[in-house]
Amino acid sequence: MRPSLLRTASQHLRRRRDYSSSAAQPERKVAILGAAGGIGQPLALLMKLNPLVSSLSLYDIAGTPGVAADVSHINTPALVKGFMGDDQLAEALQGADVVIIPAGVPRKPGMTRDDLFKINAGIVKGLCTAIAKHCPNALVNMISNPVNSTVPIAAEVFKKAGTFDEKKLFGVTTLDVVRAKTFYAGKANVPVTGVNVPVVGGHAGITILPLFSQATPASNALSHEDLKALTKRTQDGGTEVVEAKAGKGSATLSMAYAGAVFGDACLKGLNGVPDIVECSFVQSTVTDLPFFASKVRLGRNGVEEVMGLGELSAFEKEGLESLKSELMSSIVKGVMFARES
Ligand code: NAD
Ligand code: LMR
Repeated sequence: MRPSLLRTASQHLRRRRDYSSSAAQPERKVAILGAAGGIGQPLALLMKLNPLVSSLSLYDIAGTPGVAADVSHINTPALVKGFMGDDQLAEALQGADVVIIPAGVPRKPGMTRDDLFKINAGIVKGLCTAIAKHCPNALVNMISNPVNSTVPIAAEVFKKAGTFDEKKLFGVTTLDVVRAKTFYAGKANVPVTGVNVPVVGGHAGITILPLFSQATPASNALSHEDLKALTKRTQDGGTEVVEAKAGKGSATLSMAYAGAVFGDACLKGLNGVPDIVECSFVQSTVTDLPFFASKVRLGRNGVEEVMGLGELSAFEKEGLESLKSELMSSIVKGVMFARES
């Protein structure tokens, strides 16, 4: 083995040993805001199953006593408490390490995610104001749409409150990665469990840019037309579900899965597990846009490293250039809303 490789391997082993020999697993509180909703309920179930969670706080404006009673009967260690209405929000948040936000209205057929801005911007602003007050150090996982605007809104709220830490604010784009992996595995005819596909940009239409040129395992069975079709299907994945649900909402079960994957990654990072990498929409200098989704290394303080884009195909380079103006206007819309309201 080359000396540099040997060095890297032994550093890696040491980090693993440091982790495995470290003290008992820390207590972790996770709060879900919007916990009685279509995403909130299955997400509450999945977080109750997560052994890293010791306390699970379920908050909504209605319906949480029932959801909390139900989930609390599952024989896993996490202690579940339900909180309902503004008066109980402070207690729901107190001491939270990770706050996951799926609060807000979902799309109906014919709507864009931006059509949700009018209602969800205010909901997110209110919840983030409470987070700044009651758990300013928590990692915030933003699921509420339009993510391209709700994350900048959250950042502005935290800046105003003097609590903003760019390492702790995440737009959850994991569902795009989940979809890209599934669609790629199907088309390339490879086992889905081993597949990895980074998805960068944002979380709406053409701002969702899957990098199939970096997919692993690589496949030379796919033509340029196949890759174009896979890209389009990933970008339209949310709409595919909205149309199939025909007015009964948008993705909830796959989103709960994706939210649980990302929440688990955040907890592992906080606990010092090495090499935890997920794509997320974060404050970024990877492009000229102030927020951008790319691979992010998670650590004890949240974002440890915002990773670059790597090499892009000509098709992906084109996609990157064409998403920039739409993504920038969604970001600016969020920032202006938070500053002016
Ligand atoms: P839903 O209507 O089923 O549930 C939303 C929940 O939010 C409801 O229980 C509602 O009572 C609650 N809520 C409303 N205002 C609240 C407030 N101020 N505080 C706390 N809770 C509040 O909707 P859903 O299907 O769960 O979707 C929720 C959001 O997630 C939507 O905006 C949707 O577009 C978004 N979403 C994002 C992704 C993603 O990939 N990031 C994927 C799917 C859905
Ligand atoms: C998704 O990607 O499924 C979500 O953003 C919900 C939506 O409105 O498409």
